[in-house]
Amino acid sequence: MIPENVKSEAGNIRELIRYHNRLYYSEDRIEISDSEYDALMRRLIELESRWPKLATDDSPTQRVGSQPLSRFPSILWDPAMLSLDNVFSAEEFSEFNRRIIRELDLEEDPAYSVEPKLDGLAVALIYRNGVLVKAGTRGDGSEGEDVTPNVRTLRSIPLKLTSDPPVDLVVRGEVIFRKTDFEKMNEYRESLGLEPFINPRNAASGSLRQLDSRITASRPLSFIAYGTARWPEGIASQHSLFNLLAELGIPVNPDNFLCRGVDEVEKAYHRLEENRADLPWEIDGVVIKLDEASLQERMGALSRSPRWAAAWKFEAEEAVTQLIDIEIQVGRTGRLTPVARLEPVFVGGVTIANATLHNEDELHRKDARPGDTVIVRRAGDVIPEVVRSLGRPDEKRGKRFEFPRSCPVCDGPVAREEEASAHRCMNPSCPAKLRESLFHWGSRDALDIEGLGSKLAEQLVDKDMVNDVSDLYNLTLPQLASLDRMGDKSADNLIRELGKSLTSNLQRFITGLGIPGIGRTVAGLLSTRFSDLHELMNADVDEFLAVEGIGPVLADNLHRFFSEKITRDVLSRLIDAGFKPRGSGASDLEKPLSGLTVVFTGGISLPRSEARIMAEKAGAKVTGSISARTDIVVAGPGAGEKLRKARELGLEIISEDEFLRRIN
Ligand code: IVH
Repeated sequence: MIPENVKSEAGNIRELIRYHNRLYYSEDRIEISDSEYDALMRRLIELESRWPKLATDDSPTQRVGSQPLSRFPSILWDPAMLSLDNVFSAEEFSEFNRRIIRELDLEEDPAYSVEPKLDGLAVALIYRNGVLVKAGTRGDGSEGEDVTPNVRTLRSIPLKLTSDPPVDLVVRGEVIFRKTDFEKMNEYRESLGLEPFINPRNAASGSLRQLDSRITASRPLSFIAYGTARWPEGIASQHSLFNLLAELGIPVNPDNFLCRGVDEVEKAYHRLEENRADLPWEIDGVVIKLDEASLQERMGALSRSPRWAAAWKFEAEEAVTQLIDIEIQVGRTGRLTPVARLEPVFVGGVTIANATLHNEDELHRKDARPGDTVIVRRAGDVIPEVVRSLGRPDEKRGKRFEFPRSCPVCDGPVAREEEASAHRCMNPSCPAKLRESLFHWGSRDALDIEGLGSKLAEQLVDKDMVNDVSDLYNLTLPQLASLDRMGDKSADNLIRELGKSLTSNLQRFITGLGIPGIGRTVAGLLSTRFSDLHELMNADVDEFLAVEGIGPVLADNLHRFFSEKITRDVLSRLIDAGFKPRGSGASDLEKPLSGLTVVFTGGISLPRSEARIMAEKAGAKVTGSISARTDIVVAGPGAGEKLRKARELGLEIISEDEFLRRIN
């Protein structure tokens, strides 16, 4: 039997988590910090592991993914998930509008729903009695892939609908990446030495169509609904459908417009095009639909696309230019990236002179060669890329670009990693890697050293003044002042900045080391568990594994990194230079109330202020109000409302005597 108070606590936490998911994914708002959200989730997991019957299918904890499949089962769509016909100009849309008026014999312009055209992957979600039972990709429109376990991991998709859901509901929409999530994910991938995704659409499709749903669970995908397979009862228009979906807790686009007449549609199109860069996700045009269900039905559909809707794409932010040369850039982890040097061209509001070609496979797929005319694209905030090559009008093309077999910077050996389709320079002392590591050391999330830019890092390496980051701290004023574009004043400032960096905390220090897979976030986790550099350097794999959020791969990376002689030598030189980076954790770990949140209520014999100090010395955090995040309530005689709430939440309640016993 699950105690009532536990049931209600689990219920309350679930409601809270759903509420915060909805807020973030449907309203783009945040009311709690990531760590508060995680604390709610942890508490729920804790309750469900103690009382496994609590872990129902619709619990937010069930979004972690499950055993990999060998292939996706297929799923049939009836009615088919259609595609859209395009219009290419205001004139063509006018023609579309005239045809509708003529065929339906309307007296006036009909109302249209004008919606941002999201650039992701179309999926359908099947709800029965308000519970998500199946989900699949569009596939060829009639038959898609059943990706239910994957879709269940998306936090923006409710596993259970709110209010009063229809018995059967099939929601259609797009799985996408928000721009910020996409960037964060790529930064993380790069810190792991993995190939970044090329654009949010590829990333969404690649992430959702994973046979191992645990991989999907690790990718921050979002979902936005744009329709249903059939009209729910009582719903007779696109805009009232959106209201219903939102009421049920399903994210709909906040930028859908209801328009009448060609002029209004055109205005909405231009408005969205202008605001495109400020939207949280990539869009590539608008979708225009007859708003009224009855009119849609009367227009009907052809085999491939409905006759009541059209897509009107934005002018592609593409331009044609000359590919002057292809160069290879070497990054901090040694990755070789082919970069196109271009005849500068104005695209999407900025002039670009360089564009990425991603990797060898992409380069050859596009068959771009120096001298070619190429199409370049700048999609939103994404790095400019070469889309394809148009070859050369005179047909006298240059040779196919041969990817180097040795590092263009140090001539060191290059290895190809098939899985990531990446090439990497294997020379540990490659100057390009050193230059990038120095630059990374001074970057904002790391040691935040103003003035240590990439040009300076390059000079320090080229002039052999620095062999690793510890050498930065032996640089003298005259040495620095002798560099290009460095007067006495900037040299002096840099020395001061370097001195300031000596007092940085452990999180920044770890971030700066650039350990594969360890960015700012993981560095933060480590610094709450270890009190100083010595503890960190001497930890074994199990101690790393004990840090929440660190799995076997990272634990192994960390252990290997800190065991290497080169690392240890550099670290000991950094310590000699004056670094004593401190974390907030470790020494607290052994304390009796470490990591626990305590609330005092009712009459206790100790003065409150003293009780608080004692609790804090024992490692606790003391707060004044009870919530699901409270761990222990110390209650004395006469405790009222807080005690009642603590009972309701099923918190641990102890007496003053018990408190004193524990801290001793
Ligand atoms: S309606 C029957 N609405 O565009 C109507 N589609 O080119 C078909 N898309 O497969 C879907 N945003 O993946 C619709 N607001 C929107 C959309 C949208 C993006 C995608 C969808 C569809 C493709 C058709």
